[in-house]
Amino acid sequence: MDIILLGPPGAGKGTQSHRIQERHGMKQLSTGDMLRAAVKAQTPVGVEAKKVMDRGELVSDAIVSALIGEALDAMSDGQGAIFDGFPRTGDQAEALDMLLAERGRKLDHVIELEVDEDALVKRIVGRFACAECGTLYHDTANPPKVEGVCDKCGSTEFKRRKDDNEETVRTRMAEYRAKTAPILDPYEKRGIVSRVDGMADIDTVTHSIEAILRGE
Ligand code: AP5
Ligand code: ZN
Repeated sequence: MDIILLGPPGAGKGTQSHRIQERHGMKQLSTGDMLRAAVKAQTPVGVEAKKVMDRGELVSDAIVSALIGEALDAMSDGQGAIFDGFPRTGDQAEALDMLLAERGRKLDHVIELEVDEDALVKRIVGRFACAECGTLYHDTANPPKVEGVCDKCGSTEFKRRKDDNEETVRTRMAEYRAKTAPILDPYEKRGIVSRVDGMADIDTVTHSIEAILRGE
């Protein structure tokens, strides 16, 4: 099964993808994570992407589509993909259809996390992640069970993203409204869109997504 998790910055795509990956053996494919890894490794793609990401704008369709193609080829046979943060434009949506068709796969669900934008700014500025395993936390909504220690791997090192400041978040939201929200329409026509209340607590959101995966 291949699914897209769609929603503005801070909607919970990463948080939910991690959970679905762990509980259902699917593979999270996050273009944001792939780009941040490229920036860290200072690859040519990373050097180009860094400036764009720091402004909160979108990296080129060609770059992210190529990253997704490579990631699909590295997956095990029969494993489902959770697309997190991709596609984000009409051209990326078309590229994804082609990449999947070439590999004999197809999209089963597009799940939109519906959220209130002002609340998202608070979510994002409070976000941090385990530097070791990438588990996502929030200062107040979702802190580690033991302060300063990752629940999952026990690491005591955490990191915050450079683009998680209010000004950049507003640009990222504007990019979402202008370029990403319109891609829902063609999926709607195919009858594969489901909506989940992304303002509910994290467990409730996971249960709603799992109900969709079960076809309920
Ligand atoms: P990307 O990494 O994809 O970031 P994003 O879309 O802005 O989304 P976020 O990661 O900020 O939010 P999320 O929805 O994953 O929320 P999370 O689960 O972390 O992209 C970054 C940049 O890379 C882009 O701006 C662009 O430049 C570039 N890029 C990436 N993909 C691209 C593409 N396809 N094309 C072009 N450019 C691309 O949750 C947020 C916080 O809230 C966490 O602290 C979490 O603990 C907390 N939280 C989550 N759910 C809940 C809940 N239900 N209740 C309370 N708190 C919650
Ligand atoms: Zn960890």
